[in-house]
Order: sequence, then structure tokens, then C-alpha cells
Amino acid sequence: MSTPELYNLKTELLHAIAEASDLDKLEEVRIAALGKKGRISELMQALGALPPDERKAYGQVVNSLKTSVGEALEARRQELSREVTAERLAHERADVTLPVREGPLAEGRIHPVSQVSDEISEIFADLGFSIAEGPDIETDFNNFAALNIPPEHPARQDHDTFYFPPGPDGTRALLRTHTSPVQIRAMLKTKPPLRIIAPGRVYRSDSDQTHTPMFHQVEGLVIDEETHLGHLKWVLEEFCKAFFEIPEVKMRFRASYFPFTEPSMEVDIGYARQGDAIRIGEGDEWLEILGCGMVHPNLLKNVGLDPERYQGFAFGLGIDRIAMLKYGMPDLRAFFAGDLRWLRHYGFPPLAIPTLAAGLS
Ligand code: DAH
Repeated sequence: MSTPELYNLKTELLHAIAEASDLDKLEEVRIAALGKKGRISELMQALGALPPDERKAYGQVVNSLKTSVGEALEARRQELSREVTAERLAHERADVTLPVREGPLAEGRIHPVSQVSDEISEIFADLGFSIAEGPDIETDFNNFAALNIPPEHPARQDHDTFYFPPGPDGTRALLRTHTSPVQIRAMLKTKPPLRIIAPGRVYRSDSDQTHTPMFHQVEGLVIDEETHLGHLKWVLEEFCKAFFEIPEVKMRFRASYFPFTEPSMEVDIGYARQGDAIRIGEGDEWLEILGCGMVHPNLLKNVGLDPERYQGFAFGLGIDRIAMLKYGMPDLRAFFAGDLRWLRHYGFPPLAIPTLAAGLS
């Protein structure tokens, strides 16, 4: 590039800088001049191709062009920033008489379902259980067949299952209808002795004041060579006392039916109504809180364990339900409505981490 051409380039760039009406446009000008493929950068790269005796003089000219353009860019940047600040100062208003807003730690709330899941995990961890997990999208095998619920079994109808379209092999994945499939996953993964709980989301096509299409359960499973019904009763009693934070609890074990347990039971806990409040562990009203039983031998066979050698118990508990009971929350649908006023009222401070030593709630 000849000297007059360089001079023209300088005039052109300085003009573009002066014309840039905001910081974004100025940045475009900078990139076009000094960016990797900018015009000045290209001139610098071309230097190498010049004969050595021309290189020095030409280099100095290009360098001084680069310096002038760089300085002009910086000056214009400062000018435009000042304009931005002046503009904000002219229009933004801060009302210094407003009360100070609380920090996120004081304002944020933990959802009661999360809090109650943590409380449950804390109690069972203390009893020697570990936490297992499974996915929300399950196979028919894990959710039904392996749990002794074959295709034509009437219990399938009670589950109001959300199915996915069939895959290439013809089977349909589904949203798990209970946490019981985690029993299967746990037994397939770990050899007994096994002591797990599995909290998580479950799905059924059902909706009214006490049912939502998504809700939460916690599954429990113990498999070893000598666990019996007495252990099951003791564990559930200890759990209820610790969870409801009461010294004695009234519990009722009613014979029931689940395909995956034999014998099967439903457990009610006693409560009394006092006006709007509910007192757990006394009174003569009963509320069903969980299903349980001794693991059916067919499940053990389905996962390749010998039912002559291994046995154990399982239970399934509705997390939302016992949360409603413990914290007096009347409407299940409000749990998932995402209303901040509800969360502020029923939620927990983020540092109120439940521990048995410090008190659960
Ligand atoms: N899976 C059952 C349900 O969703 C609950 C249940 C009952 C789980 C008995 C168990 C059990 O592990 O033993 O309704």
C-alpha cells in the first residue's frame, strides 16, 4: 500500500470511529481495523513479504497508524461510556426510603417435599439404610413384570400409567407409577444383604384435591437371610416416632394385597382432630400412610436370588401425604402450583437442615 493509500485508510478509520454512535458499533469498527483479520492487522502481516530495506520504514508508518487508530478508539470508547452513564443517571431512580431487601439466604425457601425427603433420608440413614435411585422413565419389566404384575394383571389398571409410544422392539417405556421398580434395580445391582430407601417422583394420570399426576414416594427394601415381619414393624414404628417427633405412636397394620409382597399390609396411624389442627399419635381416627409386606418370592426369582435362602421386607410411603400431615398443609395441588406466597408460608429456611441431633423440624 502506498503512502497516500495509507493516509486515506487512516482518514477513513478515524472517520468511522467518530461516527460510531454506540459502544457496539465502535467495537465493530475496532474489529474491522485491529481484529485478527482487520485491515491494519493485514498490513502488519504483509510486512514480512517486503524486502528488508523497505520493511523498516514501512513498518514504522503502519505502526504509527495502528497507534493513532488505537488512541482514537479508546478516546471514543470513553466518550460513549460517559454518555451511557449520563443517560442512566438521567433516567434511573433509586428510592432510598425503601426498606433494605433481604439477601437470598434469608429469602429463599426449601420446598416442603425436599425438606421432608431430607428428614426421611436422615432417619433411615440413622437406621443403617443407604439411598438408592432409579430413573423416572422405566421399562415395563422393572415397573410391572418383575414386580409380579404380569401384563393381564388387574393391578395394572389401578396405576393409570403414562406410556411412551412403542420402541422398535414393540415395548413401551413408561413414567414409573411407583418407586417399587427401584427394588428390582437395587437387587439386580447389589447382592444381599441389602438395606435401601429410594425417594423419588412417580406419575399417574389422576388429579383432584388429594391426587396430582406427579407425586413423591419413598420405597424401602431390606433383603438378607433372616429379616422377618417383626423387623418391618419395628422399623416403621421407629420411623414414625422420629418423623412425627413424638414419643409414642398409634399404628395399625391391616392385612392387604400387593402383588409384590406376601403377606401384605397397609399401615394407618392414629390421629385426633383439634379444630383445624391434627394431633398425630393420639385419638381414634386413622389415616393410611403406607403399604408394606414381606418381599414376594417371585421377585427374588425374577432377579436371580434363591427364595429358599433370601427374604426381606419392603414398604412404600407417600412423601407428599406425610408432609401434608406433619406440616398441616391441606391441598396437595398447591405443592406444585409454583405460587411464591405458598412457598414463603410453608417452605423452610435453606440452613434448617434436618438432623436427628438438632431436631428434624
Ligand atoms: N408400590 C405401591 C404403590 O405405589 C406401594 C407399596 C406397597 C410399596 C407395598 C411396597 C410395598 O414396597 O411393599 O401403591
